[in-house]
Amino acid sequence: MSNQLFARKPLEMLLEELKGENRLRRVLGPVQLTSLGVGAIIGTGIFVLTGVAAHDKAGPALMLSFVVAGLACVFAALCYAEFASMVPVAGSAYTYAYATLGELFAWIIGWDLVLEYAVGSATVAHGWSKYFQDFIGILGFKIPAVFTTAPFDYDPAVGHFVATGAMFDLPALVVTFIVTIILVVGIQESASFNSAMVIVKVVVVLFVIAVGAFYIKPANWEPFAPYGLTGVGVFGKTLLGQTGKGGEPLGMLAGAATIFFAYIGFDSVSTHSEEARNPQRDVPIGIVVSLVVCTLLYIAVAAVLTGMVPYKDINIDAPVSDAFKNVGLAWAQFLISAGALAGITSVLLVMMLSQPRVLLAMARDGLVPPGFFGAIHDKFRTPWKSTILTGFFVAAMGAFLPLRILAELVNIGTLLAFVIVCAAVLIMRRTHPNAERPFRVPFVPLVPILGIAICLLLMFSLPAENWLRLIGWLALGFVIYFAYGRYHSTMRDVLKK
Ligand code: ALA
Repeated sequence: MSNQLFARKPLEMLLEELKGENRLRRVLGPVQLTSLGVGAIIGTGIFVLTGVAAHDKAGPALMLSFVVAGLACVFAALCYAEFASMVPVAGSAYTYAYATLGELFAWIIGWDLVLEYAVGSATVAHGWSKYFQDFIGILGFKIPAVFTTAPFDYDPAVGHFVATGAMFDLPALVVTFIVTIILVVGIQESASFNSAMVIVKVVVVLFVIAVGAFYIKPANWEPFAPYGLTGVGVFGKTLLGQTGKGGEPLGMLAGAATIFFAYIGFDSVSTHSEEARNPQRDVPIGIVVSLVVCTLLYIAVAAVLTGMVPYKDINIDAPVSDAFKNVGLAWAQFLISAGALAGITSVLLVMMLSQPRVLLAMARDGLVPPGFFGAIHDKFRTPWKSTILTGFFVAAMGAFLPLRILAELVNIGTLLAFVIVCAAVLIMRRTHPNAERPFRVPFVPLVPILGIAICLLLMFSLPAENWLRLIGWLALGFVIYFAYGRYHSTMRDVLKK
């Protein structure tokens, strides 16, 4: 049995599978892949979470938070790109782990990717709801307070959870259902819809930077780091920096751990490898270009936002559009809200597109029931059953759980996935030194090691409960693996032969 737990899926077998039946359509080129990347990246993180991060954790040092989180992602992105060029199949980090670290690790990472994509989608749906409410508010409409948000939330001023008075987040629920329907109909249609949305949001972000720059008051950047430049803790004990009322670390690094969410998504390009026309070349391009573009935009937005509004006055629901309202540009608030809505919609689309594809890869290996998660629709050629299941899961969480709790959980899960992918590159270089690598991570082992170090640092900069939630989530995953996956894995038969 221990053989099976650590059995690696041979690289040759992965490549062989690519030739089989029941494949997705190869329709995506480099521009579409980069656009899917940007589509997955710019969303709730920059438009919503910057508010919480600047207000409660970093102050104007948020600019540096974006640099640190961006660096963590660039290192991880290079590692993703190497794998994506070697093993261009759906499944992303899950497949890479299967090829390098064995079945158990593959399962852990696949299960962890559910945190990233499905729980991430719920977080994004929440952010969408905030801008939707901001937008209809400008038009003079309002939805009843009981339908505006999750029933409870964490309040940093008191250091514990408080009731919000609402029942659930209705807009989050509705947008999730609409996106689910679009996704069932097909990738080609979804990719075109995504491209249109991406253009809108990039224009809006450039607008925020170009127009906002005229309203910067350098005095707002003082003090630059009111919570300090660190913020690292271990299980509730702060090692570096200040401590919040609930025992969470505060400071620039703690801010980086929060806004790390803004970068999540570039890796989803790799889940589309199987739909890429020339995956070996185009997927690395898509990953790296989309990430670099977004990093530059983010640092500029953080500088503008904290320069326009004193950090203590930054709105935590719709910070970017609110900053323009404050300087008297109501028309700009309208434009930004509309752009943010379009932008966040495309994030939701890509993230909810990625989840069923990871499950599809796991179903092919027998780790989750193939009849359900492996089913491809006859006409639409999409993994429709798991897309619909993902939709239900996302809608339920988006409606009932608070935004910042969801975001932190997603961050710790994704950071763990990045750590594993960086480690997997190091291992793969040793075990398969001669495998064909159309894209190679430069400066190995330095880049993967730095990736691992910064991601771990950010994991320790998140409030401690997230470790417990992550461990709880992984424990649940183990129960499922040992009850189902272990007995149904296709590797089991291969090993028996
Ligand atoms: N990076 C994505 C966002 O910020 C997940 O919405």
